[in-house]
Amino acid sequence: MKIGILTGGGDCGGLNAVIKSIVWKGINEYGHEFIGFEDGWKGAVENIARPLEIDDVIDIMPEGGTMLGSSRTNPFNPRHGPEKVEETFEEQDLDAMIVIGGDDTLGAADKFYERGLNVVGVPKTMDNDLRCTDMTFGFMSAIQAATDHLDRLRTTACSHHRVIIYEIFGRYAGWAGDADFIMIPEKEYSIDDVCHYLEKRREKGKEYALVVVAEGATTTEMEEMMAQDEETDEYGHVVLGGIGDYLAEEIEEKMDWETRYIQPRHIVRGGSPTAYDRVLSSRYGLMAIDLVEEENFGKMPALQGQDIVPVDLSEAVAEIKQVPLDFYEDAEYLFG
Ligand code: F6P
Repeated sequence: MKIGILTGGGDCGGLNAVIKSIVWKGINEYGHEFIGFEDGWKGAVENIARPLEIDDVIDIMPEGGTMLGSSRTNPFNPRHGPEKVEETFEEQDLDAMIVIGGDDTLGAADKFYERGLNVVGVPKTMDNDLRCTDMTFGFMSAIQAATDHLDRLRTTACSHHRVIIYEIFGRYAGWAGDADFIMIPEKEYSIDDVCHYLEKRREKGKEYALVVVAEGATTTEMEEMMAQDEETDEYGHVVLGGIGDYLAEEIEEKMDWETRYIQPRHIVRGGSPTAYDRVLSSRYGLMAIDLVEEENFGKMPALQGQDIVPVDLSEAVAEIKQVPLDFYEDAEYLFG
């Protein structure tokens, strides 16, 4: 078979390990031929691809990012048109395509499967917000980076008796955090809730605090302000209002407590994958190529317990996986 591979959406640790395991098993065990599309769906729309051989992938597992490049191009955006990808599929004489991505990239993969292309997906995202799988690769690497930052921030917050607000990626789901107070998009807060927790900590004699806030979290007061002035970006996402900055100002004013605001953004997403992500992404890659071999299309490998199992792409992209509130309550119990 001739198989195309692409990586779409925000990059994360483990993408290269998936590519390696697919190409490794696909060539060594099944004798398939591979091409890699450049920059996600953009390469498939514009038919920009290169052959992938064992030599290209042999050493890439520990490397962060993606050797194929990535973009946020969605082929169903009227500016591009899905027909372009279908033409590429024919021109390249492809038998199948393996699409590695998060909800947006895999949402497009699922639509192509519905339109008749032989597609298998692989679940990637540092946000861990894809359904049907216990874990997307990239998440553990990002969480480890964030934890290292928080350990460093704790010592400087302590020396300077400050509240440090750490605003981390996560538009719709807040799976991250190890702090004295955590704010996630799934929950409602008012600025008084935040101050209440911090005051309880101060009463215990603690003169510093760490607040971790997902970029998609808001307070009721902030939502009211945003409702008057809602803006969307080129992908149709609501432009978020800078929750970390807002919290830092409000806490400083309301509590007379010095604050600092940190936004690590892509620093948490970049870099080498952790051991966990190398193993998980390799296992996903091995099952993805088996699914192609079995012609079991419209599926993606998923982690359920200890097992990697095939699930329907349509199920996985039906909606975002959010944090169950009882998980949050466990964290909340330890706040302060
Ligand atoms: O890929 C997911 C993500 O990391 C989100 O958590 C974040 O909101 C977004 O990507 C940032 O996107 P970009 O890299 O396009 O700035």
